[in-house]
Amino acid sequence: MDKLVIRGGNPLKGRLHVGGSKNTALPLMAAALLGDGVTTIHNAPVLQDVFTFANVLRVTGARVRFEPDSDANSPDSMVIDARNIDHVEAPYDLVKKMRASFYMFGALLGRCGKARVSLPGGCAWGPRPVDLHLKGMEALGAEITMDQGYVVAKAPAGGLNGAHIRFEPSSVGATINVMLAAATANGTTVLDNAAAEPDVMVFGNMLQAMGAQIEGLGTTTITIEGVDKLNAVEFTNCPDRIELGTYMIAAAIATPPGETLTITGAEPDHLGEEFLTAFRQTGVPFDIDGSTVTVTGVESIQPVSITTSPYPGFPTDLQAQWSVMMTRATGASSITETVYTDRFKHIPELNRMGAGCRIEDNAVLVQGLNDQSLQGTNVMSTDLRASVSLVLAGLIAEGETHVLRVYHLDRGYENLEGKLAGAGIDVRREEYQE
Ligand code: EPZ
Repeated sequence: MDKLVIRGGNPLKGRLHVGGSKNTALPLMAAALLGDGVTTIHNAPVLQDVFTFANVLRVTGARVRFEPDSDANSPDSMVIDARNIDHVEAPYDLVKKMRASFYMFGALLGRCGKARVSLPGGCAWGPRPVDLHLKGMEALGAEITMDQGYVVAKAPAGGLNGAHIRFEPSSVGATINVMLAAATANGTTVLDNAAAEPDVMVFGNMLQAMGAQIEGLGTTTITIEGVDKLNAVEFTNCPDRIELGTYMIAAAIATPPGETLTITGAEPDHLGEEFLTAFRQTGVPFDIDGSTVTVTGVESIQPVSITTSPYPGFPTDLQAQWSVMMTRATGASSITETVYTDRFKHIPELNRMGAGCRIEDNAVLVQGLNDQSLQGTNVMSTDLRASVSLVLAGLIAEGETHVLRVYHLDRGYENLEGKLAGAGIDVRREEYQE
C-alpha cells in the first residue's frame, strides 16, 4: 500500500496544471455507450476511477482504449467502441469500487432497454442512497425488481416513455442517470429540481452533440425530447473544478506572501459564485485570465464561514479543503455541510495535527490560528477529499506528515505528488505495510 510523505514548510510557487474533470469524465463514458459507433473523449484524466469505469464498460462488450494525445503535453484521449453491446450487466465487484458505475443503469436501459446493475454500497461518510435514480426510471416506465443486491430493469416493449420527474433533494447522479435513459425515450421528459452542476451541463452538451434534444442545461429544470438514436462523437472533457479549488486553497496556505502560484488549464466559472465570493472574502488575492488563475500569497487569511449546497452553491467536495485553510485564519469560522450527513472524517485526523476543530451536528467549528502550527504525524485517509485535505495540512505542518492509504487520493487526483513537487513541495510516495 502507498503513502505520501510530505515535509512541511516549503513554499508552494510556480505553476500547477488542472487535469480533466473526474466527475464529468465518468458520465461522458456512460454517454458513449448510447452511441452506436466509436466515441473519442479528449482530456480524460488518468485516474483509478476512470480505469475502473473502463472495465465496467468492457463487461458490456464495449471496447475501451487510452491513447496518449499526439501532443505529448496534452492529456490522454479515451476511445470507446460501443458498436457491440451484448451483456447488459454491471457486476458488484466493479460497482462496489466506484458508485458512479451505477450510471450503467441509465446507459444500458437507454441503449438496450434492459439492465442488471449492482446496487452501489455506501461510502466512508454515509449511506449514499439511489432511491431517486430508481424512482426516475420507474417514472419513465421501466419495470424494476431487486435480485440479490442487483437492480434488474426492463423497458416496456415500445420503449421508455417521457415523464415529469421531480428530484428531492437535488441529485447529480440521479439527474445524469435519468438523462441517460430519457434521451432515447418516446416523447418529452421534464426534470424539476435537476442538478445544475457543470458536470451535468457538460455531460448534457455531449448528449446534444450525439443528437439528443435537451433544453435547460445548467438550470434546475431540464427538458428532454426523446430521439430514436444517438451517434458516436468526438468530445472534449472539461477541466476539474475541484482540483482547481484545491490548488487555490493550497496557494492560500503555502505560497509565501507576495509570491504567486499560477494554475493553468482551469475553468474558473465551474467553481460557482459562492466559492469565488468566499475565497475573495478571505483576502487572498487571485486573478482570473481565461483558463489561468494566479493566486498571491498573503500574511494573514480572514476567517470565512461557509455552508455547502448544490451548484452554484459552495461545493461539498471542497469543504474538507476549506477547513484546512480556516485553521490558518486569524479568527474562528464554521463550515456547515448540508449535502451529506457526517462528511467530516478528516477532522479527527486534522485535530491530531493540532488543528483545533470541533464538530457540532452538521458543522465544524474551526478556531483558526492558535498559538501553535500544525504538527506533522501519521494520518489516515478515509475518502478522496478527506485525503487531499490531509495533504494540504502536510504542506504547512512542522516536520513530516505521512498520509496513509493514498489509494483514496489516486481515485481523483492525477499525479498529485508529481505536480506538487514541481511547484516546490518536498513530497514523496512510499510503499508501506499496515
Ligand atoms: C456526485 O455524487 C459526485 N460524484 C460527488 O463527488 C459529489 O459530492 C456529489 O455529486 C454532490 O455534488 C460524482 O460525480 C462521481 P448526489 P452523487 O446524488 O451523484 C442524496 C467526489 O469527491 N441522494 O448529488 O452520488 C445524497 O444522499 C464525490 O468527487 C438521495 O437521497 O451525489 C446526498 O445527500 C464525492 N437519493 C444528495 O442527494 C438518491 O437517489 C446529493 O447526492 C441520490 C442522492
